[in-house]
Amino acid sequence: MIIAPSILSANFAHLEEDITTLVSAGAQWVHVDVMDGIFVPNITIGPIVVKDIRKITDGYLDCHLMITEPDRYIEDFAKAGADGITIHAEATNHLHRSLSRIRELGLKAGVSLNPATSLDCIEYCLDLVDLILIMSVNPGFGGQSFIEAVIPKIVRAKKMIAGRDILIQIDGGVDTENIGMLYEKGIDVFVAGSSIFGSPDPAKTVKEMLKIANS
Ligand code: DX5
Ligand code: ZN
Repeated sequence: MIIAPSILSANFAHLEEDITTLVSAGAQWVHVDVMDGIFVPNITIGPIVVKDIRKITDGYLDCHLMITEPDRYIEDFAKAGADGITIHAEATNHLHRSLSRIRELGLKAGVSLNPATSLDCIEYCLDLVDLILIMSVNPGFGGQSFIEAVIPKIVRAKKMIAGRDILIQIDGGVDTENIGMLYEKGIDVFVAGSSIFGSPDPAKTVKEMLKIANS
């Protein structure tokens, strides 16, 4: 299992220190939330910041694009040094093309589904998918409460991938209280923002999360 701290909740004035501390504590991925103010009601960071993060860590840069028509920026994120790009099924008219483009650029392709979106829309693209991101909050902000109604979607996704080499990721409201249950349901990659960065000792929280899921 993989812990992917979401830097949305980090202090951008000392991002390097925050990232290196958590990667050393065992977080193999760094989750980068990209928001455009249109697909979601918030604006965050773009490829320029990813390029600089790439210089300070060997961790896997997991770029979650919460932007409309993501095809416009896939190449920019690839050039900036992203390892994986996850796009929202709701944000592209041509999901098959978008996923193919990510793979063509040599990156891992992820598809994300808002809490209200059914898994059905990815059924015919599964051979182009390396990761399914199940949103457990409505995207746009850190610190929201976990939406319990998505739990059956995790179980269904696990069945749907039917042995394919696809990771299941969860994002939103993940903490030390629910991580064990989510691991049991079949989650491979846990995104956590406020529960890590908002804790008194973020490195300790990452270690605790790894310990809970692994036990
Ligand atoms: C929400 C983002 C998340 C967010 C998670 O739109 O995609 O990655 O940072 O934050 P927490 O863990 O605080 O819910
Ligand atoms: Zn995210």
